[in-house]
Amino acid sequence: MKPLYQSVLKKFTPAQRELALEKALVEKIREKIENIEGKHSHIEWCGSSARGTHLRGDRDIDLFVMFDQKISDTELEKEGLRIGKAVFRGKKWKKAYSQHPYIRGTLEGFDVEIVPSYIVEHGHLKKSAVDRTPFHNRWLLQRLNEKKQKEIRLLKQFMKGINAYGADLKNNALPGYGIELLVTTYGTFENAIKQIASWKPGKIISFGADEKIAKENFKGAPLILIDPVDENRNVASALSLEQFERMILAAKLFLKKPSAKFFFGAKTEKWPKEKVEKMLKKTEIISIKGKFPATILPDLIWGQLARYEKKVSTHLKEKDFSIIRSAHWSDEKDVFFLFELEALELQKAKKITGPFASDSENAKRFLEKKRKILSGPRVENGRLVLEIERKEEETSAKKILEKFLKKSKCEEKSGIRICIKSAKVLAEKDLLREYKGKFAEYFTLYLGGKEVFE
Ligand code: UTP
Ligand code: MN
Repeated sequence: MKPLYQSVLKKFTPAQRELALEKALVEKIREKIENIEGKHSHIEWCGSSARGTHLRGDRDIDLFVMFDQKISDTELEKEGLRIGKAVFRGKKWKKAYSQHPYIRGTLEGFDVEIVPSYIVEHGHLKKSAVDRTPFHNRWLLQRLNEKKQKEIRLLKQFMKGINAYGADLKNNALPGYGIELLVTTYGTFENAIKQIASWKPGKIISFGADEKIAKENFKGAPLILIDPVDENRNVASALSLEQFERMILAAKLFLKKPSAKFFFGAKTEKWPKEKVEKMLKKTEIISIKGKFPATILPDLIWGQLARYEKKVSTHLKEKDFSIIRSAHWSDEKDVFFLFELEALELQKAKKITGPFASDSENAKRFLEKKRKILSGPRVENGRLVLEIERKEEETSAKKILEKFLKKSKCEEKSGIRICIKSAKVLAEKDLLREYKGKFAEYFTLYLGGKEVFE
């Protein structure tokens, strides 16, 4: 194996000691659960830790408590929670939500989930979405060996390094399971990279399922990665077009010039404040700073932040601002929305084009409308044209955003409402004052505007 890959694996494979502790803990919990009186049958250790494909520092253990289908939904839920709580007795735990609620908590530094699940004949016969997971595990275990585990860890870390890992609403990329499927399909990390570099939107990997039906079912998805245990599921359903294209770009650049930065991310030096100040003089950026709600599930918040960013952008466009780009960032404490515009101030005059002069009815209505006319009406290219005066508060992006924030405080979902409760619109000089800590690192990358692997 190439030295680069060896060094990545050395850094990102969990230590032997760690793996032994993990295994011992799983066996301890298994014994405990199997000794609890109840209607459950047995335990299945699922997720990447069960397959030896997890990365160092990922300390999550997914344990499935299996139940016969004769057990009703309500009973499964009740039993699952009872067993979960018994596992963590005296320790920290929380109720978490999937299709059914379940218990997750911390034991010996590991993040353990106790998930109740039905025993079904086949993944597509699932009674609830989690019932597929044990099938994923068995499907992969039949196809993995030590070599493949390494190749998977390489591809996972590559995707992490380029910021395209995870099917959550923050990352909009592939889940770990999807990456494992790519490696089982393509054999090695290197071959997977080669193949990814030649993907086009609409790429399909079908594991023998009918491709025509799959294309119909998942129309518009940039990648259709059929779940080999359930052909009705696209494992890549969370992957956005942006992340899909980022994977391809990174793969192409890696093939041209392999380097550690794809796995570790490039080390970016924070720009000195003076450099940021100079850059801000040449660009037009306005920002909204809010708080990340502590009481709502982070994944929900990430989805809401993305939607709110779009909403604000749309509003600015409606008000005639040209947007160069927009972004949002959070360390799950502070939230920053960033909007780079062609101009932060619009001129007073706004040109509006009306109907053809010959279109009497509409022309009349156009000219009768009450507005402050600066110039016109005149005919341009056959149409009536007016230059009208914008209201004072309609010329400033800052004022428009301040007004929009106020409105959002009443209209938005509770997550965004909490986020912007005490939010402020930041002009460039305010933004400069916020230039510190983790945000400064991000803002340097933002202003540089490059992919981390470029
Ligand atoms: P995890 O999110 O813990 O993923 O989901 P993982 O496979 O263990 O990978 P990493 O290394 O932690 O990132 C546990 C299991 O839930 C199913 C898969 O079977 C996965 O192995 N799952 C999860 C999906 O099918 N789809 C998803 O989007 C997420
Ligand atoms: Mn996991």
